[in-house]
Amino acid sequence: MNQSTVSHRIRLLAGEQDVQRCVDIMVTSDPWLTLGRTREAALVLLRDSTREISVAVDPNSDALMGFVIVLMRGAFVGYIQTVAVAAEYRGRGIGSMLIAHAESRIFSDSPNVFLCVSSFNHSARALYERLGYEEVGELRDYVVRGYSEFLLRKTRGPLNEYRG
Ligand SMILES: CC(C)(COP(=O)(O)OP(=O)(O)OC[C@H]1O[C@@H](n2cnc3c(N)ncnc32)[C@H](O)[C@@H]1OP(=O)(O)O)[C@@H](O)C(=O)NCCC(=O)NCCS
Repeated sequence: MNQSTVSHRIRLLAGEQDVQRCVDIMVTSDPWLTLGRTREAALVLLRDSTREISVAVDPNSDALMGFVIVLMRGAFVGYIQTVAVAAEYRGRGIGSMLIAHAESRIFSDSPNVFLCVSSFNHSARALYERLGYEEVGELRDYVVRGYSEFLLRKTRGPLNEYRG
């Protein structure tokens, strides 16, 4: 944590105002611009009750600074589907805090945290590697032709040895 780290509080996404703010953060930023994520698709994701969505807020103003979406169902249990910080708050530790929050939720049930990063998103990938993630696969032309999604994993060991 560096000197410019901002104070924040993490709470669950609550209500339509949060949803709209998260959608705004997504649809105005890469990687989602390059991936062609529409406002409608982002709204469906943010309103999906099977997702566990946490937001980082300014403890004084309650301004929503970023969010993380965790999926605890499906083939890869413990999937961080999205992490995003509003452009004006980036580089101050909020993304790392949101990822740490998601990891502690996931590790309470499962030894693996999965996430995908686009092949053009070098700075996010550098952050994930610094946080202990390793590439476990490449999905070529997965969302848009010409780019890959890299599947990354951070693990605490085999499923059948894990006690949570
Ligand atoms: C990636 C992201 C969530 C990280 O959140 P953050 O609050 O900026 O991250 P932190 O302050 O905890 O860590 C900073 C690190 O994040 C990385 N980073 C990635 N994208 C960044 C950006 N647009 N601005 C600043 N740092 C960024 C850098 O490696 C940086 O490391 P550095 O300080 O050594 O340069 C955030 O920058 C973001 O929302 N980016 C756009 C959306 C995105 O790429 N999401 C990930 C999809 S897989």
